[in-house]
Amino acid sequence: MTEGTDGGDPDALAALASELREADRAIALTGAGLSAASGIPTFRGDDGVWGDVFDEADFHIRRFTDDPAGFWTDRLELHEHMTPEGGAGPNAAHEALAELENAGVLDAVVTQNTDGLHAAAGTESVIELHGNSERVVCRGCGRTTAAEPVRERVREGERPPECEACGGVYKPDVVLFGELLPKADLRKAKNLARASDVVVAAGSSLTVDPAASIPSHQQGGSLAVVNLESTRYSGRAEYDVRADVTEVLPALAERVLE
Ligand code: APR
Repeated sequence: MTEGTDGGDPDALAALASELREADRAIALTGAGLSAASGIPTFRGDDGVWGDVFDEADFHIRRFTDDPAGFWTDRLELHEHMTPEGGAGPNAAHEALAELENAGVLDAVVTQNTDGLHAAAGTESVIELHGNSERVVCRGCGRTTAAEPVRERVREGERPPECEACGGVYKPDVVLFGELLPKADLRKAKNLARASDVVVAAGSSLTVDPAASIPSHQQGGSLAVVNLESTRYSGRAEYDVRADVTEVLPALAERVLE
């Protein structure tokens, strides 16, 4: 077990890079810290969304079912708070993981993020455990459609927005607090972790289960936690890298692919 190493520890990075190069199977598990450099605020940690400005309870599935109009009003405000002017694009951390997948080093990226930036960076096998905020789903007929035109209707006062096909209420196609994660995706993520020689958990406080427990399914091999703050897995990780993902992940990809 290593003490929290700063990202500048070249030996740790070199060792992790060689383990990744030798690994038959490896995945990354990512969180909001990956997208911070893209202008999307994180939920916890410095300037985290949950706290003074927004209350998690307002985004619980119970709130959606009891008060869909109020839910959508707050959801629109949350979306606008979390979306930088002109929208968000992938950053060097997303691109580094896409390169590692493209080179066959990573089998998949399992993400808690709903911003679609891993796919935008070119990662092909992305498991979106918490869904995707660029889609909405009808609670009546299950139809999904693009979220932005529906958000526009909410801005114009249609609260809650209703499905054109059946009149059911649209819900953001994300996993709300109190909802179960998509079964098949969760099972796939656990199986991938179980088979992985290396799991890289990056940019996540690893506080929201079951996604945060994915590393615990790994059987043997090495866990690398790359995060500005300590997490509940940092103490038992083979690599505990307290540094910025936009620096560490590109440096790691460079070493693995050199
Ligand atoms: N580099 C490395 N780590 C970073 C960076 C960065 N540039 N920026 C922020 N971090 C770290 C923060 O220190 C924090 O520990 O990223 C972590 C982000 O943690 P959270 O905000 O809790 O995000 P996440 O772990 O993805 O949250 C899980 O909680 O609210 C729900 O559904 C939401 O998917 C989300 C889930």
